Amino acid sequence: MTESTATRIDGAAFAARLRAEVTRKTALLHEREGIAPGLAVVLVGEDPASEVYVRNKGKMTIEAGMNSWQHRLPDTATQAQLLQVVANLNADPAVDGILVQLPLPDQIDADAVIHAIDPDKDVDGFHVVNAGRLATGLPAMVPCTPLGCLMLLKDHLGDLSGMKAVVIGRSNIVGKPMAQLLLKESCTVTIAHSRTRDLAAECRQADIIIAAVGRPRMVKADWVKPGAVVIDVGINRVRMADGKLKLVGDVDYDAVAAVAGAITPVPGGVGPMTIACLLNNTLEAACRRRGLAVPA
Ligand code: GUN
Repeated sequence: MTESTATRIDGAAFAARLRAEVTRKTALLHEREGIAPGLAVVLVGEDPASEVYVRNKGKMTIEAGMNSWQHRLPDTATQAQLLQVVANLNADPAVDGILVQLPLPDQIDADAVIHAIDPDKDVDGFHVVNAGRLATGLPAMVPCTPLGCLMLLKDHLGDLSGMKAVVIGRSNIVGKPMAQLLLKESCTVTIAHSRTRDLAAECRQADIIIAAVGRPRMVKADWVKPGAVVIDVGINRVRMADGKLKLVGDVDYDAVAAVAGAITPVPGGVGPMTIACLLNNTLEAACRRRGLAVPA
């Protein structure tokens, strides 16, 4: 067994501090303006993983002092029914954030639903208007997972300017917004994907590696420059030799930890940051919609 030399970036602890900050600012907003931010989560069907996420989001929203609503539709729901729920939430002044839990059943066009959400209530940051705002440097709702990755990076490294970053994965939810955020921090950014030639060589150039591909333990120790910071977005359930299921990331953690300068574990790294950033986005949406600054 190789020895770990990397700093373990504790996303769970950082997320707990961020949620405490959001809770404090939410209380100030209520005290000064009489406003309680509110998040509505829409769940279609009964996907067990989605049920867990939605329950946790509801619990943490209430713990932050915000209003929380859940709207449930059966997995047979039509697109028109879901669009009607979104339209009602758009029109409801008490609702600051709308999150439609993905994945959606096959009969529903997820893009059409995402694009029906008022961009100013789009706390997931998935609407094309928010993607465009982020890409052009305007104030935007930023997708929660890449925002959480950036916060962990800045907390560990401080100024990122001039650093070489490789983002593995080009999804609209993680890879592309992650690249935009790193570019905004003046990194030199490479977006790698399934067609990238010699991915290992690309990664070896990087000061920062963000792995967001959904392939268990794909990033190997000899892909990582000594001292590089490795952020693992992957959440993969794999069956171990003893038949038990284990949660692993996209990074071969034990081996990479012997080479990297710092690394996020799975679980306890990026995962807890996502909900904390969702609450932060909901607070921001509540303030921005009313032309108020977020309390300091
Ligand atoms: N499903 C898994 N993660 C997410 C997320 O961050 N947002 C939404 N809307 N659905 C998800």
